[in-house]
Amino acid sequence: MIREAMPRWIAHRGGGSAAPENTLAAFKAGLKAGFTAFECDVKLSADGVLWLLHDDTLDRTTDARGPAAPWRWENLQLVDAGSWHSAAFKGEPPASLDQVLDFAAQHRVWLNLEIKPNQGQEAQTGEAVARRVAQWLADQPSAPRPLLSSFSHAALQAARAALDALQSDVPLAYLVETYDDGVLEQAAALGAEGLHTDWQQVKPAVVAAVHARGLKLRAYTVNEADQARALLADGLDGLFTDRLDLPSRL
Ligand code: G3P
Ligand code: MG
Repeated sequence: MIREAMPRWIAHRGGGSAAPENTLAAFKAGLKAGFTAFECDVKLSADGVLWLLHDDTLDRTTDARGPAAPWRWENLQLVDAGSWHSAAFKGEPPASLDQVLDFAAQHRVWLNLEIKPNQGQEAQTGEAVARRVAQWLADQPSAPRPLLSSFSHAALQAARAALDALQSDVPLAYLVETYDDGVLEQAAALGAEGLHTDWQQVKPAVVAAVHARGLKLRAYTVNEADQARALLADGLDGLFTDRLDLPSRL
């Protein structure tokens, strides 16, 4: 059974800026560039399908408009989530979580599934992601374990409860925009394995405090070689990047 830690370099939103975020094309671009770990943003469609989108609306990253929450998966599959990026990706559909899990199983790579709920669906989405991943891991016992994260404490609490009920060993990470000692208490209360935060929050004393609690520290979104070098020298455990060329530039 593979129990190695999540790799240090994580492709942000599947493939960083190389391809349209949160699509299968993005994951393929990340894989081609040599990445073995991928972050993406997961929410629920109106009919209960888990799928990938960062924003609350479809406006920025698709050819559709308006809030994402009312859309059913059968219609979401038909939107163009690629043209906004570049003509080469015209017609690329949004990805479902199941498609991404298939990709992970096929290529034996790590996922960091960021639970990004529609407003008011925090607990429901956290529980749904946890249940789906627990079931997938039961079917794929030797696959690298996905890491679930969220800015939503409620989503992570619901994920924790579902995982405990299923006795499933899926790691959680608490995402915070700003660091203070209180977030360590919250992460520990969730039984999290890590804390994820903005790279500008990371200082040697923060790394030391997080590690002293037995937690990993990962930072988003690191797009400059100098930043990456300094953060890794400070002892950071992982970084999310939009620059697929960055690991080769260190
Ligand atoms: O999960 C790390 C990072 O993706 C969090 O920020 O806004 O890019 O989802 P965001
Ligand atoms: Mg994200």
